Amino acid sequence: MLAFLGQGIARAPFTAPSVRLNKGAHREKGLRVVSAIEIVELSKTFHGGRKALDAISLSIRPGEMVALIGASGSGKSTLLRHTTGLITADRNGETGAISVLGRVVQTQGRLASDVRAVRAEIGVISQQFNLVDRLSVLTNVLLGRLGRIPAWRGCLGLFNDAEKRAAMEALNRVHMGEYAMQRASTLSGGQQQRVAIARALVQKAQVILADEPIASLDPGSCHRVMETLADINKKDGITVMVSLHQVDYAIRYCPRTVAMRDGAVIFDGPSKALTADFLNDLYGAESEQLMLGQRPAASAAARTTESLPEGATAWAGA
Ligand SMILES: Nc1ncnc2c1ncn2[C@@H]1O[C@H](COP(=O)(O)OP(=O)(O)O)[C@@H](O)[C@H]1O
Ligand SMILES: [Mg+2]
Repeated sequence: MLAFLGQGIARAPFTAPSVRLNKGAHREKGLRVVSAIEIVELSKTFHGGRKALDAISLSIRPGEMVALIGASGSGKSTLLRHTTGLITADRNGETGAISVLGRVVQTQGRLASDVRAVRAEIGVISQQFNLVDRLSVLTNVLLGRLGRIPAWRGCLGLFNDAEKRAAMEALNRVHMGEYAMQRASTLSGGQQQRVAIARALVQKAQVILADEPIASLDPGSCHRVMETLADINKKDGITVMVSLHQVDYAIRYCPRTVAMRDGAVIFDGPSKALTADFLNDLYGAESEQLMLGQRPAASAAARTTESLPEGATAWAGA
C-alpha cells in the first residue's frame, strides 16, 4: 500500500498543488505567472560517462521555498550549479533548458549570452561560507552590490552612503548588525551564513539558491540559518531553493520538497508527506542518511515562533 502510495506521489506531475505561496509573491506577465525557476529535461553526463542528471524537469513558482533533498552524490549540487549557469548541460539534442524569472540561463548545453544579467537576480549561498575572510562583515555584504554598480566603483571599494545603509539594514535583518566591523574570519559558521544571506538581500536577489548551507553547522545554528531563509522568503517573497542533506529541516522549513536519487527526481510534493516510512519506500537503506533520527527538538521549535530580540544576543553564539 505504502509502495503504491509512494509511486503515486512520486509520479505526480511536476507541481505541488497543496503548497501555499506567500502573499504578494506572484509576478504577473500578462495573464501568465512567470516561473521563478523552470528546468526542462536537463541531463548532464560528466567526463567518464557518469550521468549526474537524468532528464530533470522542475517548475518553481515565485515565492516558493523548496527543499532539494537526496543522499550524497544524488545530483543536488550539480542541479544548482546548472541553475546558476556555472556548468552547462549535455548538448546531445535534449532540450536541457533552464530559465530563472523568465530569463534563459542555458539551453541545449549553451549559456545565454546575457547570463550575467540573470545571475544578478540569483543569490548563491554555499556550504563553504564563501565570504572574504580578511574583509569586514559590512564590506562582504556590500560585495553583493557588485553585479549592480559600475565595475570601477566596486573595484575601488567606493560604496555610497545609501549602499552602506542598505548593507547595515540587511545585517540587522539577519541579527548580525553588531558584527558589521569585524573581520569575516572571526565569525562562526552560522554567523557567516547569515552574513551571506544579508549579502543576497543587498544584491536584491529575487531567487536564492543555497547548496547545503547548514551541512557543517551545529543544530542550533542550522535552525537559525533556516529561520533566516524562511523569514526572507515569507516577508520579501524571495524564492528559495535549498539543498539539504537531512529531511527533518525540509519538513520543518520548506512547504515543498524535491527529492533526488541518482540524478533523477523521485518525488516532488508537500514536505509533510515525507514520513520515515515513505522515505524508506523512496530510498530504501539510503533513507537513513537523510534522517536525523529524531525530529528537531521542541525547544528549537518554540524558538522559531518567538519574536527575535533586537541585537539578538541569544543568536550571537551561532
Ligand atoms: N565536476 C565533476 N566531474 C565529474 N563528476 C562529477 C562532477 N561533479 C559532480 N560529479 C558527479 O555527479 C554526481 C552528482 O554529484 P553532486 O551533484 O555533487 O551530488 P550531491 O550534491 O547530491 O552530493 C556524483 O556522482 C558526482 O561524483
Ligand atoms: Mg552537493
